Amino acid sequence: MDHFTYKNGHLHAEDVAIADIAASVGTPFYVYSTATLTRHYRLFTDALTPLPHQVCFAIKSLSNVAVLKTLGDLGAGMDVVSVGEYMRAKAAGVPGERIVFSGVGKTRAEMRVALEGGIRQFNVESEPELRALSEVATSLGLVAPITIRVNPDVDAKTHEKISTGKKGDKFGIPISRASAVYAEAASLPGLDVVGIDVHIGSQLTDLAPFEQAYLMVADLTRQLRAEGHDIRRLDLGGGLGIPYTRSNEAPPLPTDYGALIKRTVGDLGCEIEIEPGRLISGNAGLLVAGVIYLKHGEGRNFLILDAAMNDLVRPAMYGAHHDIIPVVEPVPGVEPQSFDIVGPVCESGDTFAKGRAMAPVAEGDLVAFRSAGAYGAVMASEYNTRPLIPEVLVKADQFAVIRERPTFDEILKRDTIPAWL
Ligand code: LLP
Repeated sequence: MDHFTYKNGHLHAEDVAIADIAASVGTPFYVYSTATLTRHYRLFTDALTPLPHQVCFAIKSLSNVAVLKTLGDLGAGMDVVSVGEYMRAKAAGVPGERIVFSGVGKTRAEMRVALEGGIRQFNVESEPELRALSEVATSLGLVAPITIRVNPDVDAKTHEKISTGKKGDKFGIPISRASAVYAEAASLPGLDVVGIDVHIGSQLTDLAPFEQAYLMVADLTRQLRAEGHDIRRLDLGGGLGIPYTRSNEAPPLPTDYGALIKRTVGDLGCEIEIEPGRLISGNAGLLVAGVIYLKHGEGRNFLILDAAMNDLVRPAMYGAHHDIIPVVEPVPGVEPQSFDIVGPVCESGDTFAKGRAMAPVAEGDLVAFRSAGAYGAVMASEYNTRPLIPEVLVKADQFAVIRERPTFDEILKRDTIPAWL
């Protein structure tokens, strides 16, 4: 469920007409709904209650500081994967004790910043990282709380580029080696082993792989406790999928996911952490674009938008589907037409949809990409020197630009011409 609906024939974000935002900021832009962000965050906290828990929003999915503050003010923690994301969480007012640090390549400099600024835990992904963290923490006279990310070798049945829990993926340590690696962690100075971490992939639309992985984590918890480790926290990762089409998809709900967590690891007396990104941010955002031209090609109609693959790369990168709807509600019964929906970037990969049936639209009309809140703005680039597009946050009948569109002067100023040229 989201808060982007037609009212009086015009698409709204909560109580704000999309066309009003477009008139104010120009297209293309991203727009996020506070009510949807809040609702989705609460679905998770409700689903985990009464277990002691902390929901840590995966910042990588949508990292605007205003969005982070919206969630942080509700009590959300944050899952960060770089010092930049850590700084965003801090800038949003989230305390260090609610920030977990994931990722396979944390540098010593990043570890230092997080240790000095406060951190809930590092999710360590390898033995070299364990040793580096021990050295950094010891040199600062601090103790780093850690979990170790285990790779359970389960098939998440998702897109190969976003599956992370199979043997051969770069993530975590093989679960079969956990005993040895935990023993090493316990022997190193400057580390406090607090729990276990697992994350098997993103956009999972089936609960079975989660169940498989979490049962293995439950067994591992009992085993590591028997080996003398005080396992008191389980970070179960993110990955719950969302419906990208209105019609035929019904991925499991957070309540089902919560029930699964209770069933698999709920009796261990551990605090539960989860790191959802997409389910909180995905359907909380639209990408709004304008139609530049309607071009009739060889048996095809091209809808050329002012948004392109640099603004939303998911279709080009993963073959991902996003529903694209007109901002003015189609008249009931109107005959849909077939469009190839493309951007202005100079490669054929800049195609959002091929042969998409859509109510007729004309030059100058506005269209909206649904489910664009997650992995949209954060993955944007300035390819073709197209400025990063603005982000707008709506709350009830108010909206505000939460990231400005840069000017060309600002973009050009970032390049410098050497004195010798
Ligand atoms: N925790 C860890 C350690 C992760 O690597 C990820 C996502 C998450 C949590 C959040 O997963 P989510 O709940 O959002 O599924 N760019 C791709 C998705 C990449 C996901 C990377 N890791 C896409 O656009 O589909």
